Amino acid sequence: MSGDHTAGDLREGIPFIGAGPGDPGLLTVTGKRLVEDADLVVHAGSLVNSELLEAYCADAEQVNSVGKDLEELVPLMTDAYEAGRTVARLHSGDPAVYGAALEQMDALEGEGVPTYFVPGVTSAFAASATLGTQLTLNEVANHVAFTRPQGKTLSAEEDHISDFVGFGDVTTCIYLGTHAVSETMDRLLADGHDPDTPVAVVYHASWPDEDVIQGTIATIGEKVETAGYRASALVIIGEAATGAGYERSYLYGDWANGEGEDEESDPESDTTTETNHD
Ligand SMILES: C[S@@+](CC[C@H](N)C(=O)[O-])C[C@H]1O[C@@H](n2cnc3c(N)ncnc32)[C@H](O)[C@@H]1O
Repeated sequence: MSGDHTAGDLREGIPFIGAGPGDPGLLTVTGKRLVEDADLVVHAGSLVNSELLEAYCADAEQVNSVGKDLEELVPLMTDAYEAGRTVARLHSGDPAVYGAALEQMDALEGEGVPTYFVPGVTSAFAASATLGTQLTLNEVANHVAFTRPQGKTLSAEEDHISDFVGFGDVTTCIYLGTHAVSETMDRLLADGHDPDTPVAVVYHASWPDEDVIQGTIATIGEKVETAGYRASALVIIGEAATGAGYERSYLYGDWANGEGEDEESDPESDTTTETNHD
């Protein structure tokens, strides 16, 4: 049970901070303050923008965690913390999404070092902003799936991309799949999905060299191969990737005009309208 890693008001210990997708401006105010205060910043290598490290913690000791195992990382952070140094752990995007933060936090807690999460902007949100769309879109997409393709970590049976696409109203956001776009699309075609289903690939969302490739299940694989991207992109499958085809929402239509007296139309109730109240 790892329920002790709540941020709350208690700010003692090592924060596991979401650095955001790349743009230093997308680090939260709390994250920035903690990084600025740190004597030691352990960061996730190339996915954390060096501009952010330069801007907010140039004077701190900076350690790239890539290629270091838990046996190296945990004593590094524990020793620094016990020596009275201020330690910050920076993960790319949000540490709760494909971040492997918890195993480090549990190991640190086991050594008596308290830890807590500070959320960040996950790359799917940066990608949707780049595309100028919503991941949920009225009458187009009612759900969002954060997923990854089969490979060394995930078996073929655990790969649910085809299931998500099959629902028809899910926006499927694929992390860790840039190198496998063609294979993933081939599997979707083999499973009988509509070849014209929109797919967008956003490389380095929010970075200066950000790039967008738009296509379909049938065309995107070749386009990504031509562009030469093998990592650091988010693949978004579904109509929402285009930002088109949506219907005017209830919130700014009938509800705003005072119609709908039942519970489901009450924006304060725990129902559909409340989730639309943005
Ligand atoms: C190890 S996962 C970390 C995800 C991260 N925790 C997050 O919330 O975005 C790395 C994957 O995230 C995606 N990613 C990270 N930063 C990105 C960015 N700026 N633009 C597009 N995709 C990004 C890529 O799919 C990459 O393979």
